[in-house]
Amino acid sequence: MEKLVIEGGYRLEGEVSMSGAKNAALPLIAATLLTAGEHILHNVPDLRDTRTILALLEDLGVTWRRAGTSLYIDSAGLCNFEAPYDLVKTMRASILVLGPLLARLGKARVSLPGGCAIGARPIDFHLQGLQKMGARLDLEEGYVQASIDNRLSGTNIYFDIPSVTGTENLLMAATLAEGTTVIKNGAREPEVTNLVDMLVNMGADIEGRNTDRLTVHGVKQLKPAVTETIPDRIETGTYLIAVGAAGGKVTLTNCNPAHLPSLIEKLRGAGLQIEESENTITVSRPGPLQSIDIKTQPYPGFPTDLQAQLMALMSIANGLSVMTETIFENRFMHVAELKRMGADIRINGNSAIVKGIEKFKGARVMATDLRASASLVLAGLAAEGTTEISRIYHLERGYEDMTGKLQKLGAEIKKEKE
Ligand code: EPZ
Repeated sequence: MEKLVIEGGYRLEGEVSMSGAKNAALPLIAATLLTAGEHILHNVPDLRDTRTILALLEDLGVTWRRAGTSLYIDSAGLCNFEAPYDLVKTMRASILVLGPLLARLGKARVSLPGGCAIGARPIDFHLQGLQKMGARLDLEEGYVQASIDNRLSGTNIYFDIPSVTGTENLLMAATLAEGTTVIKNGAREPEVTNLVDMLVNMGADIEGRNTDRLTVHGVKQLKPAVTETIPDRIETGTYLIAVGAAGGKVTLTNCNPAHLPSLIEKLRGAGLQIEESENTITVSRPGPLQSIDIKTQPYPGFPTDLQAQLMALMSIANGLSVMTETIFENRFMHVAELKRMGADIRINGNSAIVKGIEKFKGARVMATDLRASASLVLAGLAAEGTTEISRIYHLERGYEDMTGKLQKLGAEIKKEKE
């Protein structure tokens, strides 16, 4: 097992390129199951999670190869419809193969994802939607067994909560259904729109791009396509906040500021200077940090995947900040670890009240989930002394070469064997 060792107090300077989005690449890769032939996906990050879903596709009989950041995937050899527990338990997004397998093969057997550190995270919306499309579903030995005699049928689906992977799974299933499916109160994250664009490239008939109402007119056949993965807005947000925590001036390239409306607004309110162009952001911290309040919400609201990182920043800002988490019921696991570094945070229901301190103090801390581990890295960059973060496999699930990128910006950070 590896750990990260960070010497705090070094400003970040220079330029760094952002990677493609993990949460876009996963559904794009799953969508290649919908039809045989060679799909080309560009700008795909090389992460633990993308490697996991590719291993799952391989298990199903799909062939793929990587050339730099491009993937060439062909599902002509699809011969298996089971997503095994051993793979699904390592990454709940594996559930994204359920819709495409059912639509393509008329059957699928996918392990239920099981528990998660940040919340219960049920998949009932996914299952209810497929049932409404005519699928027979049984839960057996921890697996969802799904089957359909002929084709899925178009229907109306309403999400109580705009689920990201729920919208993506049903969207993919609906592309090959008989008739029209209308998804209301669906998620409209940029990653969902990236998937809509890929499916339309493949010949799907979808209206309502970028809105919470998607209308899918089912087609009989799709074809392989070439698709660009959007930049990772959560990675981008993490680096913006890193400059806020450590100080300095950095230009992020290969990013899309338009995908971060709420964060950029909030960071300006906290005192950061942010200049945007179409695909770059330059950020610096000219003066002291001011506390701000946030409430996580579905896109375009403040992303829950940046809550932990912003909490690290607010821990060293002037004043009191109230951070309310509305998406996941257990997404404050980083609080206890930040407090080990001297933070002053009180939890009250689904809100954290953060009282700014002068400086973090380096300590040995433990990563509990992907974004919590990123918040500990940011705290370590700003801390006095040395911080050691264990269980960094969490970080590698969603950040491509974070150590290398931060070293390039002047951070004193290295990976060591535990
Ligand atoms: C996606 O997860 C992301 N993962 C998550 O990113 C992100 O935190 C989340 O969306 C919210 O933005 C991927 O895209 C692979 P949801 P997802 O379904 O789709 C409830 C990261 O750090 N719900 O939108 O699983 C659910 O419990 C990860 O990169 C149901 O009740 O999240 C939650 O409270 C972490 N029933 C809310 O909806 C369902 O069937 C939103 O969850 C589905 C969801």
